Amino acid sequence: MNAQKKTALVIMGATGDLTQRKLIPSLFKLCQKGRLPANLDIIGFARREWDDEYFRQEMREGIQAFTPDQFIQSDWDHFSQRLHFFQGNFTNKEDFDRLSEYMHRHYGGHENHTYYMATSPEFFKTTIGYLADCNLDDAGKNKIIIEKPFGSDYTSAHDLNEFIHQTFQEEQIFRIDHYLGKETAQNILFFRFSNSIFEPIWNRNLIDHVQITVAESVDVGHRAGYYDHAGVLRDMFQNHLFQLLTLTAMEPPAAFNATYLRNEKVKVLQAIRPIALEDVVLGQYDGYCQTDRVAPDSRTPTYAAMKLYIDNWRWQGVPFYLRSGKALPDKTSEISIYFRNPPHNLFSFEGGVDQSPNVLSIIIQPNEGIHLSFATKQPDSYKEIQSVNMNFYYSQSFGNEPLPDAYERLLLDAINGDASLFARADEIELAWQLMDPVIRFAEDPNKPSPHQYAKNSWGPQAALKLIESNGGCWLVTQGTAGIICTF
Ligand code: BG6
Repeated sequence: MNAQKKTALVIMGATGDLTQRKLIPSLFKLCQKGRLPANLDIIGFARREWDDEYFRQEMREGIQAFTPDQFIQSDWDHFSQRLHFFQGNFTNKEDFDRLSEYMHRHYGGHENHTYYMATSPEFFKTTIGYLADCNLDDAGKNKIIIEKPFGSDYTSAHDLNEFIHQTFQEEQIFRIDHYLGKETAQNILFFRFSNSIFEPIWNRNLIDHVQITVAESVDVGHRAGYYDHAGVLRDMFQNHLFQLLTLTAMEPPAAFNATYLRNEKVKVLQAIRPIALEDVVLGQYDGYCQTDRVAPDSRTPTYAAMKLYIDNWRWQGVPFYLRSGKALPDKTSEISIYFRNPPHNLFSFEGGVDQSPNVLSIIIQPNEGIHLSFATKQPDSYKEIQSVNMNFYYSQSFGNEPLPDAYERLLLDAINGDASLFARADEIELAWQLMDPVIRFAEDPNKPSPHQYAKNSWGPQAALKLIESNGGCWLVTQGTAGIICTF
């Protein structure tokens, strides 16, 4: 091999679930599509006593288990030659010295390599510190990808940013929020800014309110040990929901690049009014405290709904309702833009719509697509109105091939140095600043415990009251039934 021309993606913590379930299947897919740089090797760094052969075997089993349709033996034979294993301990500096020497020997110095922190967050600092000590940051040429959670509050996130910035420039740092890698999340900006008919109405003049729902049907399952310290506010709101919110609310950037995009997202976060605690509803599903590795008196919320405002010209006075929870009836992530009713009502709504006739729903997953409901005259009636839908489904317009996994795009962008779909330091810190008071409230033993809700229900009734007070109801889109209220 021509050693000078090779580069490497080094996965720190390569024996973990994420590598087998997400990273390697995504890299394999990229290789199958011919998108993975031809000179890229993938090195798994972890403590276990594995070798190249064993690493390859485990990774093959991961692809066969998690993305079986994708497995083609001849493709694998080609791809697996790029996989190597380096045995080492995150807490042992000598192992990083050996890694440095290994990188020199096999990859001709440190040229544009990428280090992926797929470790538990407690090892982020040690690992990054040793990378720096052993010159693996390579004076601004190498990159690091950092998995979530990035901190557990503003102070820890700020501290981590400061620590990393001692060695790595912001341009070298890629903080993962996998929601940004989802095809449909990326499409929010394309939908808004590559059409001319939506943006003129995308503001307080015609929009009554906005809803963002990220509902999951699974409960906390085997992740209870982590989850009981995180809860839905850290696990979902500070990152995924706020990312969807900023994409929905941001101004058009002057150009489609990482700096301009992230500048606009940051401006949205800066404009969010501190969240009023009376506009927050927390819930915990029945039986959560009986889960293995959950404290028996845990106050951790598994559900939250909140109302917030963005104090700028576009959104003044428009409530944004956000909700997310586990053990809900459906898995769905969607954004609903709820338009104002017509100013003058000529027709009878009897037996017809009892909510805004115009709701635009962007379905992030599953059944990815966009729906617009509007009122039509009910046939053979005098003046009754019925709500109907215009639907776009990815599967109908682009075929049944599943959409790429978020990690495909994110890995490729990071390897190529494009940070557009990664969270910047200030973005992360602002999101924590907004969420911290809500988290403190949730964790305060002197404050009311979260509302209990039955598994497989849409959460506590108090969440319904939150949105009803503004005359709305929580919406989801259900195939041919269209956009419906969930309570
Ligand atoms: C992760 C959370 O970031 O996102 C999980 O830690 C959650 O708790 C998951 O289940 C949801 O992601 P997706 O892509 O399945 O909606």
